[in-house]
Amino acid sequence: MSEEERSFRAPKGTYDLLPPASFGWQRIMRTAMDVFALSGYAPVETPIFEHTEVFERGVGEASEVVGKQMYTFIDRGDRSLTLRPEGTAPVVRAVLENNLHRGALPVKLAYAGPMFRQERPQKGRYRQFWQVGVEALGIDAPALDAEIIELGTRFLTGMGVEVELLLNSIGHFDPSCRGAYLEELKSFLRSRSDDLAEDDRERVDKNPLRTFDSKERATVAVMKDAPVITDHLCSGCAAHFDQVRGLLDDLEVTYKLEPRLVRGLDYYTRTAFEFVAGGLGSQNAVGGGGRYDGLAQSLGGDPLPGIGFALGVDRIAISREPSADEFDHLDVYVVAVGDDAVRAGLKLATTLRRAGLGADLDLAGRSMKGQMKQASSSNARWAAIIGERELASGNVTLKDMASSQQQEVPIDRVAEVVRP
Ligand code: HAM
Repeated sequence: MSEEERSFRAPKGTYDLLPPASFGWQRIMRTAMDVFALSGYAPVETPIFEHTEVFERGVGEASEVVGKQMYTFIDRGDRSLTLRPEGTAPVVRAVLENNLHRGALPVKLAYAGPMFRQERPQKGRYRQFWQVGVEALGIDAPALDAEIIELGTRFLTGMGVEVELLLNSIGHFDPSCRGAYLEELKSFLRSRSDDLAEDDRERVDKNPLRTFDSKERATVAVMKDAPVITDHLCSGCAAHFDQVRGLLDDLEVTYKLEPRLVRGLDYYTRTAFEFVAGGLGSQNAVGGGGRYDGLAQSLGGDPLPGIGFALGVDRIAISREPSADEFDHLDVYVVAVGDDAVRAGLKLATTLRRAGLGADLDLAGRSMKGQMKQASSSNARWAAIIGERELASGNVTLKDMASSQQQEVPIDRVAEVVRP
């Protein structure tokens, strides 16, 4: 076997999440679920894969995600399954299937987990990435939009990510609203077809809104003159948007109106928003969301309005400085040389752990010097040294690693002394 055949690498666009970065990353996931729960969002887990149709019908076949990026496979039972590229369609599928919408509304759910999209990898863009998100179903009141947007903003700010909130309304799928606008947009795009980047020309008839997402310079220039949806909202959608903005003002959530924000998934109606951050290069969206009042029906269910957001954990991790307490979990590093001392040390570490304290010790037979080095690199606040003298006296020497001060403490009082 050649060297090449023997060595494996993680698949393109994926990465291993290793310590110490993995601590900061766990903190993001856990804090998200805790903060979301404080607003009434209960945890939900849906399968990592779904019937492909959930995404085709939910997210929309004309979207890039469904058209170009899904990991779809046929299983041994001849079913077409897809690794979830996003969490909203699966959550709505789960709500409908389990009749959660027959209970009290809104149904408020939160999730944290991996998603899969076969995109071109670059900084902040991976093929397996993690999202934390919330979905609220069954209510179309503007207050729910404001609640959700404030929640996303507060969580990101609390995590130390400086974000700008971009806000738009993209109306609903009716000839009186987005329907008429799309006709106007198409005729505008046809009239400027020669000026559009070649790749974007095919979008004009298939999915004209996507031309707003184009990164091609020629298309971006054309889109500056394009009609915008906010000038064409029906009176119901315009009033809804007015109220959302008023409520966000009440909650002192600052936002920038962005009439060219259309979002990449086809289920959106009315409110659409995105959180963007600096330092991420072109992948500057740390999260996004919006209303999807027609999604449940696209999945064959009853009409059920909904709104939610998802935030990219990988991008949040890149955008923030983790605090020291995210890495340091040890209160005590037990230093014990010799069989009897190790025995007493393991007992001490166990007592401390049972008392809810962080404790570790050397089980590799290192020298005293080697163990003190371990203690120091573990960032433990204390070293508890057990040597022959200590064994005889029933005391340990507790060394404060920051000040280097030492004190003798009876072994059964260590927990009391070191408890922060
Ligand atoms: P999305 O905008 O497609 O929305 O994704 C949300 C966030 O996931 C993005 O802003 C980004 O931070 C992260 N993300 C997306 N793709 C990648 C990738 N390839 N690599 C790294 N991070 C990525 C949704 O997924 C909707 N389900 C959000 C939603 C929930 N709308 C309503 N409810």
